[in-house]
Amino acid sequence: MAVKTVHVHLKVNGKDVELDVPPNERLIDTLRYRLKLTSVKEGCGRGECGICIVLVNGLPRHSCLTLTAAIDGAEITTLEGLAPEGKIHAIQMAFLETRGVQCGYCTQGFIMMAKALLDKTLDPSYEEIKEWLSSTLCRCGSYHYYFAAVKLAAKYIKEGKIYFDEEEVKKKYYMRVVGR
Ligand code: FES
Ligand code: FES
Repeated sequence: MAVKTVHVHLKVNGKDVELDVPPNERLIDTLRYRLKLTSVKEGCGRGECGICIVLVNGLPRHSCLTLTAAIDGAEITTLEGLAPEGKIHAIQMAFLETRGVQCGYCTQGFIMMAKALLDKTLDPSYEEIKEWLSSTLCRCGSYHYYFAAVKLAAKYIKEGKIYFDEEEVKKKYYMRVVGR
C-alpha cells in the first residue's frame, strides 16, 4: 500500500518550497536529507541537546521534535540562511573570533539560539544569555566562549556590521593558521 503523504508549503531560508512528506516525517529529516541543509544535525533526537535547533517563524525550535506536516506555511531559517552568498553573518563572525569552536558539532545550535535572542534584544543581560544558551549542550565545554560570542555579535550588529566578506574572513583565518 502506498504511503500517504501530506502536501506542505514552507519558506526555507527565504525560498518557497513545496513538498509531499509522510505525516510522521520530522523537520530535521526534511531539512537535512530532502533539502540538503547539512548544518542541521542530530544529537540526542529527543529535545535535550539543542543541536538541531532552527528558527521557525523567528523562534527557536527543536527540529527533531517537530513534524514537518504540522508546520505547513511556516518560515524556517537554518544556519545556511543567516547571510547572503559570499557573506558571513555578524554572529558567525563573533563565534569565529572568540575561538570557542572546538569539534564544532554543537555550534549551529548555539548560533541559532544567539540569532533568536539578538533578534529580541541587542542588550541581553548575563542571565538572559545564560538562559537562552542553556538549551544547547556543548560536550567540549565552550560555554564561556560562546557567551563572549553573543556579546561580541551584539556589539557588531549595534555598530551596523551585520555581514562580513567571506573571502576576507577566510584569508584572515588562513593567515593566522599558516603564520604569514
Ligand atoms: S537532536 Fe534535537 S534536541 Fe538533540
Ligand atoms: S565544540 Fe564540541 S560539542 Fe561544542
